[in-house]
Amino acid sequence: MKKYNIAVIPGDGIGIEVMKEGIKVLNFLENIEFTFDWYDWGCEYYLKHGKMMDDDGLEKLKKYDAILLGAVGFPGVEDHISLRGLLLKIRQGFNQYINLRPVRLLDERDCPLKNKDVQDIDMIFVRENTEGEYAGVGGIQREGTDDEVAIQTSIFTKRNTKKVMKYAFELAKKRNKFNKVTSVTKSNALNYSMVFWDKVFEETAKEYERIQKESFHVDATAMYMLQKPETFDVIVTSNLFGDILTDLGASLQGGLGFAAGANINPEREYPSMFEPVHGSAPEIAGKGLANPIAMIWSVKMMLDFLGHEDLGDQVMKGIERALEDREKLTPDLGGKGTTSQTGDIICEYMKK
Ligand code: NAI
Ligand code: MG
Repeated sequence: MKKYNIAVIPGDGIGIEVMKEGIKVLNFLENIEFTFDWYDWGCEYYLKHGKMMDDDGLEKLKKYDAILLGAVGFPGVEDHISLRGLLLKIRQGFNQYINLRPVRLLDERDCPLKNKDVQDIDMIFVRENTEGEYAGVGGIQREGTDDEVAIQTSIFTKRNTKKVMKYAFELAKKRNKFNKVTSVTKSNALNYSMVFWDKVFEETAKEYERIQKESFHVDATAMYMLQKPETFDVIVTSNLFGDILTDLGASLQGGLGFAAGANINPEREYPSMFEPVHGSAPEIAGKGLANPIAMIWSVKMMLDFLGHEDLGDQVMKGIERALEDREKLTPDLGGKGTTSQTGDIICEYMKK
């Protein structure tokens, strides 16, 4: 039997609640074994220790087959501290330069657009995940004076941008849709970084003549995602643009409760990390109201990445079938159930 060691970082708020359901699903699977080591890193940890994770946190995480993360951030700790001190540290430290985010509608009742059904909303984002606008380079000078200056610099390297583009084209080749890659740019205004982005996209596209390519500015992309979502297949974006567009994508799927993600180091030099797109949702935390589907779908992405696509499919079927009868599911899905009940129902349907 295959055995995997998983590092579990539930984090804060609803991250803790949805994580329990992700683990429930993994423990439910047969013919595969997981050991879980839980790390209590997050905002509460920060308030006690003055840091979001242990100093040797990356060293500790290195040995695992994969990492599961819930969400980080809570009132009382500034968001840039919680995000940079944990999530971005792991993404960047483990060179998880691909952020995969599927935007797929499972049930047309959840789509806010009229006359769109499940075939129309099925795209996947390949978001650059370690540099770009989130590289963390910049500074503040003359702080606290009227002459205060803030600088935040984007970093785009040829090596990384090229790898991200290639990943997107390879994915388009594998996916059973239009074999198309859409590049999201803003080269009209960002005359260095995005002109460079376009150049690398064009260069990479030449290696994939059978794959269709198109390129839109980010503002137009946002509009087309609503007007003609059915025309998208694989979408490749920089870090910031991908972050924003995938929340829009989440709403096409029925909300953040559906949006799953994977932070991947394709070379497998370091563990990859699987986490829902949503945050810690403090206003509903601790009430059992959080939809665990995004977390469970992220668990499915982990199974796929570990080479168990059959089990990934089993989890996905459980999610899809559970959506048929909403009564006992969480309120965002129209039910009166709790996070934990929703997890139980998904497990039930995984059997069938
Ligand atoms: P959020 O994703 O936590 O919440 C946005 C909205 O979606 C809220 O109305 C929330 O109730 C709802 N929502 C989110 N997930 C849900 C779920 N599973 N089921 C039902 N409803 C759900 O984003 P927000 O409010 O901008 O940020 C809250 C905190 O989370 C902040 O501290 C922020 O920095 C952090 N954050 C962390 C992320 C991460 O760890 N990856 C990502 C985004 C935000
Ligand atoms: Mg986001």
